[in-house]
Amino acid sequence: MKKYTEIADINSIPEIIKEAIQLKSNPFQFEALGKHRTLVMLFFNSSLRTRLSTEKAAKNLGMYVTVLNVNDAWNLEYENGAIMNLNTAEHVKEAAQVISQYGDIIAIRAFPTLKDKAKDESEYIINSFIKYATVPIVSMESATAHPLQAMADAMTIEELKTKKRPKVVLTWAPHTKVLPQAVPNSFVKMMQNLDVDFSITHPKGYELNPEITKETPINYNQDEALKDADFVYAKNWCSYSEYGQILSTDNQWMLTKSKLSKAKFMHCLPVRRNVVVEDAVLDSEQSVVIQQANNRTYAAQIVLKKLLENL
Ligand code: CP
Repeated sequence: MKKYTEIADINSIPEIIKEAIQLKSNPFQFEALGKHRTLVMLFFNSSLRTRLSTEKAAKNLGMYVTVLNVNDAWNLEYENGAIMNLNTAEHVKEAAQVISQYGDIIAIRAFPTLKDKAKDESEYIINSFIKYATVPIVSMESATAHPLQAMADAMTIEELKTKKRPKVVLTWAPHTKVLPQAVPNSFVKMMQNLDVDFSITHPKGYELNPEITKETPINYNQDEALKDADFVYAKNWCSYSEYGQILSTDNQWMLTKSKLSKAKFMHCLPVRRNVVVEDAVLDSEQSVVIQQANNRTYAAQIVLKKLLENL
């Protein structure tokens, strides 16, 4: 593997998920692999899980870790040929090459604007680093993708499934803030590559990018969609067609214990209790959100391991 910024960077998804689960059972077995190697983590946005789990993953592999909150550093310029006489002090061309002198792998979190669709879809931050850095890049959530989260989600389903082909439903849920499509985008792509009966449910107007959902069934009736589900993944996202808009806050879409029935409940966290999902779900044995969060470490670790092996 040369980078991990999208699901498509993985050659064999079922195989890497099995390897990640195996790594979880003996996390220090490759601690010599990262000796004298450094992971630089660049955060343009806040994080709890991604920051802590990726650092832990790197340390399990024997790596050093340096974290930079980019907003505390120089304001970067991304435009080619820009006359930098305003508020950008350093061009990404230098910054990416310089950071490559200090880190053997660079991990980046850079959220979308949710105002300018074309700019967000250009993934100009992460793609600039891919272009100008001289070391591998890992996405810790970009404008349109959260592939480390999707890997942890797939691991969790693999660990908990009780049938060969479980029914997995991604359901939109209400939220008060404008949230990105990165998590659902990567979850959809991941599920399309696994042996699962996968569908999506959301109110009309919340269709994800059709180039991502492709032939995945969409049901606008949440009750119907959730029937006999084995795993229900709840997540809010803002409208893609009316980009960045909140079209509904209908709390009828909040996930309840009765809607969940016998399914396992999944969410990437952080989650707003009694807005996205009711307490009775999160506080029940059916919630697997902590297991998902734990798996973030081993998802990051298998990715770092593959990159280290390729240095
Ligand atoms: N799920 C997730 O990425 O959590 P953080 O935003 O806390 O990193």
